[in-house]
Amino acid sequence: MYENFSALILAAGLGKRMKSEMPKVLSEICGKSLLEHVISGLNDAGVKNIGIVTGYKGDTVRNHIGSGYSYYNQEKQLGTAHAVMCAKDFLTDGPVIILCGDAPLIDENTLRAFMDFYCDNDLKLAVLTANLENPLSYGRIIRENGSLKRITEKKDCTKEQLYINEVNSGAYIFDAHCLLDVLGEIGCDNNQNEYYLTDAVELFIKNGLRADAYMCDDPNVVLGANTLADLSECERLMRKKINERHMLNGVKMIDPNTTYIDAGVVIGAGTTLYPNTIINSGSEIGCNNTIISSRISLSKIGSGNFIDTSTLEECEVRDFCRIGPYAHLRPKTLIKNNVKLGNFVEVKNSIIDEKSSAAHLTYVGDGEIGKNVNLGCGVVFANYDGVNKHKTVIGDESFIGCNTNLIAPVKIGSRVLIAAGSTITKDLEDDTFAIARCKETLKKRNKNNEE
Ligand code: UD1
Ligand code: CA
Repeated sequence: MYENFSALILAAGLGKRMKSEMPKVLSEICGKSLLEHVISGLNDAGVKNIGIVTGYKGDTVRNHIGSGYSYYNQEKQLGTAHAVMCAKDFLTDGPVIILCGDAPLIDENTLRAFMDFYCDNDLKLAVLTANLENPLSYGRIIRENGSLKRITEKKDCTKEQLYINEVNSGAYIFDAHCLLDVLGEIGCDNNQNEYYLTDAVELFIKNGLRADAYMCDDPNVVLGANTLADLSECERLMRKKINERHMLNGVKMIDPNTTYIDAGVVIGAGTTLYPNTIINSGSEIGCNNTIISSRISLSKIGSGNFIDTSTLEECEVRDFCRIGPYAHLRPKTLIKNNVKLGNFVEVKNSIIDEKSSAAHLTYVGDGEIGKNVNLGCGVVFANYDGVNKHKTVIGDESFIGCNTNLIAPVKIGSRVLIAAGSTITKDLEDDTFAIARCKETLKKRNKNNEE
């Protein structure tokens, strides 16, 4: 039903008020840029044909967002109407939604209700508005006898108009043809000498084209990020929504205010998250896990795991493992079922098979560890010779004693026993007992502790 709607996102501005060199629309909240959030909202609402106006650091913005969109360039940022003018080739047929790239909270439900409002009332222009207790720097909605008349920017308001609480969200639906007709008439005779898209409202009404404002129930969805303070407020509101959705799906949070989950993360029912847990975009967490104060990024976690105060990056942990406290799983690591990794264990680019364990102070780098292997306290995989990285393989059921150094490349067979304190440089066959350390010497102690 919404396929005949297209959407144009205005994203050419620098965002001076952010005090950053980065284009404002690439500022991130909950793991995605503002612009990506706007695009997600449109996609979720079923709007597929999307155009984007870029300008300030346009190449950076385009590279970040990628292909699949029609891009237009606005060389100089002369105002929102001028931005739309730069994309006039996009304004062909049917209704076009225009959104600001810096207002990330607009969601699919709001967009659908807005599109319904436009269709049901047979409009040529609809403006999305909200009632804000503090109308801040938003454009004010001017009505006469209840009917929409125009939008006035804060900087152009009279003293009385500043008290109007109904504000312009910066989201509109226009009939594309009618918009093209009036765009040329918009001037820049205002306080900022900019071409304001908001002036289109008065022009539509003057031309006898049906225009109306749709006020959304939730004022938060219209919030735009102009400063870093706005950005953190948008992030707080989005995080709240994300957490509420997970809790409705059966995820328990001890304190949702200190649980930080990015957009797009999947979490199964029965999982409990303790405070100060951060789960970054691209992660997928199964059911019935307990996760305490950990950071999980781009990782896949199965079910029934207990993860305590640990960092997991670009790795996979299957089911029923105990990780931490203070473990660090680095990229390209696969931990199979029932593995135990305890205090200060670091694993990188390695596979650890079922029921193996490294309970304390161990570094596993570029390793392939079989089933039921025990790595004692302080085992170190010496994987780097200063130039290249090398692999260490350990067969099933082997027992590596405390403080063993495994000098890679090295292959340890199955059921091998290595004595504590050994430094192993040669491959070991299955069922070997290896002891590679100096023999202990015992002497009678003399008064001066001399030999
Ligand atoms: C705009 C509206 C204001 C509304 C507010 C909602 C106008 C004149 N004002 O003000 O009524 O309440 O949004 O958030 O439209 N942009 C361009 N090219 C430009 C200027 C802006 O692409 O030349 C883009 C920006 O990148 C941004 C969006 O348009 O994503 C809004 O621009 P911004 O300067 O933030 O407008 P506001 O002052 O917030
Ligand atoms: Ca803005």
